[in-house]
Amino acid sequence: MAVANPGAMDETAMRHCIERKRDGHALSATDWDEIIDGFMEGRIDEAQTAALFMACVWRGMTFEEAHALTDAMVRSGETVSFDRSKGIVVDKHSSGGVGDIVSLAAVPLAAACGARVAKLSGRALGHTGGTIDKLEAIPGFNAALSLDAFVRQVESIGCAIAAQTQALVPADKRIYNLRDRTGTVPAMGLIAASIVSKKIACGAHAIVFDVKTGPASFTPQPEQARELARWLVDICKGFGRKAVAFVTDMHQPLGRTIGAGIEMVEARDILRSGAKGGSDDRAQALILKMVAALLDASEISGGEERAAQALRDGTGYAKLVEMLEAQGASRAALEGMELDAQPLAVKASHVGFVHAIDVVNLGNAGRRLSQHDKLGGLFVNARIGDRVEAGQPLARVYGKDKEHVRNLEASFKIGDKPVEPPPLIYDTVT
Ligand code: URA
Repeated sequence: MAVANPGAMDETAMRHCIERKRDGHALSATDWDEIIDGFMEGRIDEAQTAALFMACVWRGMTFEEAHALTDAMVRSGETVSFDRSKGIVVDKHSSGGVGDIVSLAAVPLAAACGARVAKLSGRALGHTGGTIDKLEAIPGFNAALSLDAFVRQVESIGCAIAAQTQALVPADKRIYNLRDRTGTVPAMGLIAASIVSKKIACGAHAIVFDVKTGPASFTPQPEQARELARWLVDICKGFGRKAVAFVTDMHQPLGRTIGAGIEMVEARDILRSGAKGGSDDRAQALILKMVAALLDASEISGGEERAAQALRDGTGYAKLVEMLEAQGASRAALEGMELDAQPLAVKASHVGFVHAIDVVNLGNAGRRLSQHDKLGGLFVNARIGDRVEAGQPLARVYGKDKEHVRNLEASFKIGDKPVEPPPLIYDTVT
């Protein structure tokens, strides 16, 4: 990486940066450049870097600092570049949820409508699912594309979903690990720089963000999620990228399923059955919204209606199959994914209304169930606001380990009075 003054950040200079940050001052772009360079080169140790990040947690960061940190992190590794003259390339990012099947369906659906979608995804983290684990539940699927193969696939068939590589933003991998160990994850500027640096390095010209809010997300309160959305969009704009962010609900699982392969099956069935889910299907509603935003960012007209058409006429499903075939899997492998025929029911012990769902607990259970059986997981029948009778199934448990997952009924809080379900989308930040 090229920095303003290579080698300038040594232990003494770093101590001054920590003290300035501690006392509430902003660091310059050159400081951030040299800090990331010094950290990656081993001239600055983890203790000093963690102290600086803790000062960022307490004192906050300016927008200019977050932009400078993003820039320094992007330059710590390789970057992908797409030829703009061949058309806009778009990307989609979710801040992490449970039952979040949006990318699995929205990426091929948007490509079926003419968009070019390049998505590098992560694996499961904590209670949240990872898009790559879901795709790898399809026998034969290859997520480990080289950056060249990734670009070629987007240019030839219009979409690719591949695993994050070490070559892109290596600084983020090391810094995120350090933040995780030192309690310094929750600083808006650090989170935004971490997320946006990976998006900028991935090369898309426009990005659609889905920032989750609710107890199972990084930003439990809608105001926090709105603030993160604002940072993400503004930092992208600072890099000349178009961006829009939706603040969406994570008080309950988004889709009906939780687990790697079972979520892939749900996404497959939404695309294959062509919009039969109906208007109460929150996952499908969000998929269509995201596709509309991806089309809008790609300067393709038609919005949600065009997305719904690609769902109905099967072109979205055909594009999913084409993407899987390009990455080593097959239609037969996708269609051969069959769930355990004898799931166990989690039943309501009494009549009432579903007031709350412990999404973290269900997310952890779904991960555990799909650890030894890729098609193991949960189907969640009950939604917040639903009236349930005693003995009615709240969820169904699938897979080899289904007998070992206990007390899931406690994840559903049932009360006497009717409650309104939470909104699906809280806000849109442009
Ligand atoms: N996701 C990221 O990629 N980075 C963060 O810092 C938080 C969430």
